[in-house]
Amino acid sequence: MTSSTKVIALLLILFSLIFPQNEPLRYYADQIGLNIGVAIKEDYILNNNQTHNNLVKREFNTIVCENSMKAENVAPSRNGYNFSVPDRVVEFGLDNNMQVRGHTLVWFSQNPQWLSQGTRETLLAAMKYHIETVMNHYKGKIFQWDVVNEPFDNDGGEYRDSPWYDIIGEDYIDSAFTYAHRVDPDCKLFLNDYNNSYITHKSTVMYDKVKKMVENGIPIDGVGFQCHERSEKKAPDLYDKVRSNFERFADLGLEIAITEIDIRQWDSTLAVQGAVYGTFMQVALDMPAVTTYMIWGVRDQDSWTGADQNALLFDNDFDPKPAYDTLKTLLFKKQQATDVRIPYAIFNAGKKYSNHPLNGNGFGRVELFDLRGVRINRSDYVRKNYTMSLADNILIYRNGKEISRIISCWK
Ligand code: XIL
Repeated sequence: MTSSTKVIALLLILFSLIFPQNEPLRYYADQIGLNIGVAIKEDYILNNNQTHNNLVKREFNTIVCENSMKAENVAPSRNGYNFSVPDRVVEFGLDNNMQVRGHTLVWFSQNPQWLSQGTRETLLAAMKYHIETVMNHYKGKIFQWDVVNEPFDNDGGEYRDSPWYDIIGEDYIDSAFTYAHRVDPDCKLFLNDYNNSYITHKSTVMYDKVKKMVENGIPIDGVGFQCHERSEKKAPDLYDKVRSNFERFADLGLEIAITEIDIRQWDSTLAVQGAVYGTFMQVALDMPAVTTYMIWGVRDQDSWTGADQNALLFDNDFDPKPAYDTLKTLLFKKQQATDVRIPYAIFNAGKKYSNHPLNGNGFGRVELFDLRGVRINRSDYVRKNYTMSLADNILIYRNGKEISRIISCWK
């Protein structure tokens, strides 16, 4: 090595010691079993925008279409279903080892005429047909569906007026979940709404409804909290307010997803904005029931809240903002505290790797890879007594979901 390469090597080592959390968001999220995702403006995929697309596949393990799966786009007429745009996005996701959320099947907005009218019987039949057509098309490709979106009133009432509610009645929600479950029993079915992050009248109406659904055996798996929020709401008790609300839903046995977070900067600083993003992330990391954290867009100018709100994680040059660093630091800390390695990372050096229980005074090291083939860790040499069963393809689960396995050893 020349002395200048030595200096560079030394600087690199120093850098990685000072900034150990220098991997993309998904690197940490993958290891702790969190779905971290973003809503995709479909044009970026259709136009093959490399800067955007490379960023998304580097940073996120989950995506959702911002608009193209909504009924008015996918089902302009009963005989005119067209999946060409969302198919491209789904393909992009699956090609890059990402999971895809489905958004949304039954909503009051962005509906074609034929899904907004009729009698109770004909509208129920149309809803069933729509759910079946879209879910069948994506069966096995979409892991969570927002089956019903925004059914609750935002002005102090209970249910929002919509053709579904007005023509069918409250039980349209139960029917939608029942139809959806029959199409794809493996898919996680969510009820999603906004303005429900804390314990309020609206979130309590939602709570009462999903509690009833659970009690009645309606196949609902999870609840979505959109979390369109504003920076100035940052208050010392924000964490407690969100957590106490989420907890009551988790206590019903439901999975929780933060489905569309964006934080308008309002009149605060980017650091405060980061802290609000971070507070929601901290709740997610502290509660095993929260499996998913989705951001509603990539860069500020993409946001439905308007470019002047600076609401997202990346600025208009696709450069990360303080909120991005906040999320990364929290994910990094969680990953450091989440020991998916040690119990599995032991085998006897010098001995053939075996699938017999070992009482090892061994000396060796193991590499762990996640399911996407990304190396999680190569252990240090370990010399310790362990009694455990080792085998290829040891599976590591979190929340019932396989997050990694030993696929090879190194010694
Ligand atoms: C928004 C999109 O971001 C906009 O581009 C579109 O014009 C309207 O819908 N809650 C939801 C999302 O469930 O579907 C909405 O998305 C944002 C609010």
